Amino acid sequence: MNKQPPHYIHYMYSYPHKTAYRPFNLPVSLSPYINKVKGRRASLYFHIPFCRYKCGFCNLFSLQSCNTSKIDAYLDTMYRQACQLSPLTEKLTFDAFAIGGGTPLLLSVAQLDKLFEIAALFGVSAGEVSTSIETSPDYTDRHVLRFLKEKDVERLSIGVQSFLTEELLSIKRSTPVSVIETALDTIRQMDFPQFNIDLIYGIEGQTEESFLSSIQRALQYQPTELFLYPLYIRSGVRIAGKVNNELLFKMYTAGRNELQKAGFKQTSMRRFVQDSNATGPEHSCGDELMISCGCGARSYIGELHYATSYAVGQPQIKSIIDAYIETTDFTTITNGYLLSEEEKQRRYLIKNLMYYRGIEKADYWRRFGEPVPPVTFKPLIDKDLVEDKEGFIRLTAEGMAYSDDIGQLFISPNVRKQMDDYLLE
Ligand SMILES: C[S@@+](CC[C@H](N)C(=O)[O-])C[C@H]1O[C@@H](n2cnc3c(N)ncnc32)[C@H](O)[C@@H]1O
Ligand code: SF4
Repeated sequence: MNKQPPHYIHYMYSYPHKTAYRPFNLPVSLSPYINKVKGRRASLYFHIPFCRYKCGFCNLFSLQSCNTSKIDAYLDTMYRQACQLSPLTEKLTFDAFAIGGGTPLLLSVAQLDKLFEIAALFGVSAGEVSTSIETSPDYTDRHVLRFLKEKDVERLSIGVQSFLTEELLSIKRSTPVSVIETALDTIRQMDFPQFNIDLIYGIEGQTEESFLSSIQRALQYQPTELFLYPLYIRSGVRIAGKVNNELLFKMYTAGRNELQKAGFKQTSMRRFVQDSNATGPEHSCGDELMISCGCGARSYIGELHYATSYAVGQPQIKSIIDAYIETTDFTTITNGYLLSEEEKQRRYLIKNLMYYRGIEKADYWRRFGEPVPPVTFKPLIDKDLVEDKEGFIRLTAEGMAYSDDIGQLFISPNVRKQMDDYLLE
């Protein structure tokens, strides 16, 4: 595998992927699943699926809309959802809270305040649990950042993608570079304890040099964390193009070397941090619990994973949001995936290998009553992509570059079939 450049196929951020979720035969009640995990730590996630415009590359669950009354109706629905869910989650201990999107900061301060009020229904306060929020440069003004500081938000993550106008135009992202610079200056002055910048490589017209120049520009703002994403062009988005694995690999290598030179540590193929002990959005033991409010977000409660249906097109996203706003019962769910023991093992292997400290063999045995299947890793070890040392199976530095390829090896035939069937539908 390592004779060839990696294949930039799929961001294996979670497993199973949302395209493998399906409607359940009968609605599933959440209560028995939450009862099974009582006493455990969990994270709370709020999804705000609205953006001022839809970027050309974006396949995330977000709707191009700033309609205040629609957003108000959406927040009222989140409030209703939280009122129904929070009595069920009383025995969980929330230790992390994230607000993602979309563009959460297109909400007014009053609307953002409502999100913190909704979080309080779960006993979550930003001052007490590690809290993170995503933004894009258009909505990052001093007024809103001051509010977030007052709320004790710890981590701010901003999508920049590139500092070059031609590259932003090429991915149909309409933010002027001057707006990006002002937003970053303002964030820097506010001094959030954790501050992440996202950049993309593989943009049409981008070169290794221009990508490195964007990294250098980003570093001037002293982020504590950077994500470098290879560009994926999914069906249904507004730009077209072909993946050039060789060029992507060259850019990846150049970007990684640049950040390592600047003192950043790599924790996964995409994530680079100054403090490798800081937890982050990818930090995962593979068996984490997550309770979400809002439309489009995933929840993980033991073997039960669920979300509204996957969609990329704007009309489908709009109708899913409209249906969410009309929902009256949030204690039963209709769409998701029930993980078998084998799927849980696959998830554990993927998440620990890609996004954590490696697979601790003794922990795997304790959880699943059997050793890590050695046959799975033998070919990867033979190619120096993975090492088996001191009780842990870890990606090597070279293996990290091949994360997307390696992730594919762990997808079960059933999940693979459901993902493929979704794309054909
Ligand atoms: C949750 S997203 C959105 C953040 C925020 N809405 C913004 O765009 O500024 C986080 C990051 O994923 C990356 N991303 C999203 N879609 C991508 C794609 N198709 N290819 C590569 N990176 C992508 C972008 O860098 C983006 O900033
Ligand atoms: S990339 Fe971010 S700002 Fe652009 S459409 Fe997607 S979620 Fe919205």
